[in-house]
Amino acid sequence: MTTSKQEHREVARARAGANFALVKYWGKADARLNVPAVGSISITLDALFTETTVEVTPGLARDELMLNGTRRDEDLAKISACLDLLRRRAAVDTRARVASRNNFPTGAGLASSASGFAALVRAGEAAFGLTLSPRERSIVARQGSGSAARSIFGGFVEMHAGTAADGSDSFAEPLLASADWPLEVVIAVTAKGEKEIGSRTGMTRSATSSPYYAAWVAGQPPDLATGRSAIRARDFAALAELAEHNCLKMHAAALAARPPLVYWNGATVECLHAVRRLRAGGVPVFFTIDAGPQLKAVCEPGSRAVVEAALRAVPGVLELSTSALGPGAELY
Ligand code: DP6
Repeated sequence: MTTSKQEHREVARARAGANFALVKYWGKADARLNVPAVGSISITLDALFTETTVEVTPGLARDELMLNGTRRDEDLAKISACLDLLRRRAAVDTRARVASRNNFPTGAGLASSASGFAALVRAGEAAFGLTLSPRERSIVARQGSGSAARSIFGGFVEMHAGTAADGSDSFAEPLLASADWPLEVVIAVTAKGEKEIGSRTGMTRSATSSPYYAAWVAGQPPDLATGRSAIRARDFAALAELAEHNCLKMHAAALAARPPLVYWNGATVECLHAVRRLRAGGVPVFFTIDAGPQLKAVCEPGSRAVVEAALRAVPGVLELSTSALGPGAELY
């Protein structure tokens, strides 16, 4: 393996952080190209990440995937489709061995597909001898998983839904570096194991059966504008109000689907109240929840200990993890 990022290398390793959306992606405009129906804004984390090795292997009949040390043939189609995008650009047909490891639970609503596809694209690009721009990387990663387009970048990130029929303007870009507003995240894990209804199925069901889906989509441009300006102004109170509103609105659309999508358990709701109580008492913290029962509390660094103590005291919280904001997908 060579060390220069410019050189062709057949084996490459990349690390990408998970990200959580503060203004959520929920719904698709084009399922084939995986173009989202709405833009989104997220934060990339440094402590929850995926590390992926891509080894281009001549003579291999099909790609191979090891996830956390176990063969995952059920995920291979999505991985191969993403690698195909890179192979097409590199004008090669060689298959690859992919070994990927998450340092956090997989498929439990903790953004493993985001960090997973971002790391895959970053490593795959290098392994196939390509040099993509960050924007091109984001476009390729989006086709693996919409949220992965954001994990290409660090800090605060905005994903543009775009309007082009070919998805060429559907990519993420950085909004603010983590060093410019070093918020922290405390994650309350309230259930382990893979979630029942993945976000892809949940989105489709919401779009086709929720009476609130159209309102959700229509409300996103003003929420994105508010989120963007709150982040640029580093206005914690404005971001807190907006992020909780946007999260609850996404869940309202999901709850009203048929059959309903209830991603929360009792502890999720207790954590939500605990965060609201803290903020009412003057602690700079807000919550967000994705397609799973874990609650993510975003706070200013000086409040981390008090947030951890409050969430640890909630019955049903199994464990906490804490993260600062982190960098985008990188080779290592
Ligand atoms: C609730 O990016 O996992 O976390 O594009 O189908 O792979 P696909 O969906 P995915 O959806 C993420 C949904 C969410 C909100 C968000 O991260 O913006």
